[in-house]
Amino acid sequence: MKRTKTSKAWMHEHVSDFFVKQARKEGYRSRAAFKLLEIDARDHILKPGLTVVDLGAAPGSWSQVVSQKVGNAGKVIALDLLEIAPLPNVIFIRGDFREEQASLELQFHLGGQKANLVISDMAPNMSGITISDQARSMYLAELALVFALEQLNSGGNFLVKAFQGRDFDSFLREMRANFQSVLIRKPKASRDRSNELYLLGLGRK
Ligand SMILES: C[S@@+](CC[C@H](N)C(=O)[O-])C[C@H]1O[C@@H](n2cnc3c(N)ncnc32)[C@H](O)[C@@H]1O
Repeated sequence: MKRTKTSKAWMHEHVSDFFVKQARKEGYRSRAAFKLLEIDARDHILKPGLTVVDLGAAPGSWSQVVSQKVGNAGKVIALDLLEIAPLPNVIFIRGDFREEQASLELQFHLGGQKANLVISDMAPNMSGITISDQARSMYLAELALVFALEQLNSGGNFLVKAFQGRDFDSFLREMRANFQSVLIRKPKASRDRSNELYLLGLGRK
């Protein structure tokens, strides 16, 4: 495939990126690991023994971080459209979260238990058309919130990738209505030019 100027620029930025190098060095599957590590260093959401659902998990770096932090007493259930290579202590489901089947499979693996934490880094393939990318991204965030509200125990936490734009304020209001507090995070590993942010809902009401 012929490389365009933009894809060459992307590749250059990617290869020279500090977090890409660091991920390779520390054995993480992607630079995204550092977003979760930074949020956790500040907000302490990952603890031994927790049951965690990881939505949009591929290639698996958040699941790697979570699996290390919750340890053998914890449980990690991860889902993505794409396959991931197996990880210790992680149950992986391949599926489309927009379909009901995915949510049913996650519930099956929760085995009647509620989750302590739901994390979603889901993002659609970007088309470059901002308005439609933002709408599709926020639709995934909204679906993740609905799932979290059903499957979190009282006091449970929810971390979700969201995109600034049209639906952001109403989504933030919905988060605030359902969690004791909602924090907005933009970790250093999240590229400046990306309008992604992470919302952290603490304490499911
Ligand atoms: C930014 S990546 C996640 C990176 C991941 N947190 C990690 O640390 O490796 C976003 C993921 O969302 C997944 N995704 C997008 N739409 C989805 C859907 N409808 N159902 C499940 N996963 C989806 C994509 O396949 C992609 O792997």
